[in-house]
Amino acid sequence: MLTVQQQINLAVEQLQNNEVVAMPTETVYGLAARIDSEVAIKKIFSIKQRPFFDPLIVHVSSVDQAKKCVTEWNELSDFLAKTFWPGPLTLVLPKSDLISDLITSGLPSVALRWPQHPIAQELINRVGVPLAAPSANKFGRTSPTKAHHVKEEFSDSVLVIEGDSSSVGIESTVLSVKKQNNIYELAILRKGSILKSQITEVLSRQSFKYQWQEVIDKIESPGHMKHHYMPSIPLVVCRDAKLKLSELSGLLNKKLNELPDEIEGVKIIKPKSDIKKIEFLKLSSDPTQAARELYSQLRAASLRSPDVLCFIQTSAHTGEMWESVFDRLYKAASLILD
Ligand code: TXA
Ligand code: MG
Repeated sequence: MLTVQQQINLAVEQLQNNEVVAMPTETVYGLAARIDSEVAIKKIFSIKQRPFFDPLIVHVSSVDQAKKCVTEWNELSDFLAKTFWPGPLTLVLPKSDLISDLITSGLPSVALRWPQHPIAQELINRVGVPLAAPSANKFGRTSPTKAHHVKEEFSDSVLVIEGDSSSVGIESTVLSVKKQNNIYELAILRKGSILKSQITEVLSRQSFKYQWQEVIDKIESPGHMKHHYMPSIPLVVCRDAKLKLSELSGLLNKKLNELPDEIEGVKIIKPKSDIKKIEFLKLSSDPTQAARELYSQLRAASLRSPDVLCFIQTSAHTGEMWESVFDRLYKAASLILD
């Protein structure tokens, strides 16, 4: 058994040798490669079975390092980075030549984040080059928040640094920052634990001219499939308060079996046989805690293999942080019952 420090030492060596390694971050575990190793970056896509159209987030360990990855480091990005970094905020900015098209899926922009986790920081510092790292799970499946999740996902093929459980539990907020005619245009491309209201609040004390934009454009916001984060058993989110539990298994048998086998390249999970055992997913009533435990609960429930896992959504699940949690729950679900 290697100590964590020995695992970090080995990870640094492997990263220098065009390998990929799994590292803890405060959001979820990431599968990391040096941005300047095309061989290692290609390995990320092949190990994850990830399509090349889904771009990777680049992890840095200083603002100076971030500046080298972009052609334009504007004042608003500098302010947000100084306010929220290191932490779970990813900034999307025009990429420099240091960042290959493989990393950005051919987009002219790069997604950048300085993670807070000390092990992630140590790795980036010691390698001396930013690390591209998507979540360390197979494409479309539940993200890992514990070292053993990653080991279950990739068996022994990847070195996993055994850090603690991810404290945030859902992926970073992805924010696009553009500057047009001296006005900044901001758009949340993926919700996370840094909320739009928090960003608005810190900006309200500054003199930047900016406006929020809604993004529905698939090209600007790739990797946003309808289904993602799926556990290996069917998850159903039930929003119909009038539904009788006695009718649930009949209804689910019918509805789940009517679903297509695949949507946007992601396999839709269906019950293996007639539904007899339904388990109810229970999350904390505190959305921050619910985010922290969501993925490990989905994985643990999958191991108990009920025929269906059901989450009942109620009016108590209201507010911005719940929206970030539901962004994952809806995509992890095979079906949403209204
Ligand atoms: O918290 C996180 O962000 C985690 C940890 C490991 O840092 N990483 C993560 O990476 O969630 P991944 O690959 O699972 O998600 C990357 C997503 C893409 O699917 C896409 O939505 C967005 O980030 N993204 C990356 N580059 C982009 C770009 N240039 N423009 C727009 N969106 C981008
Ligand atoms: Mg992911």
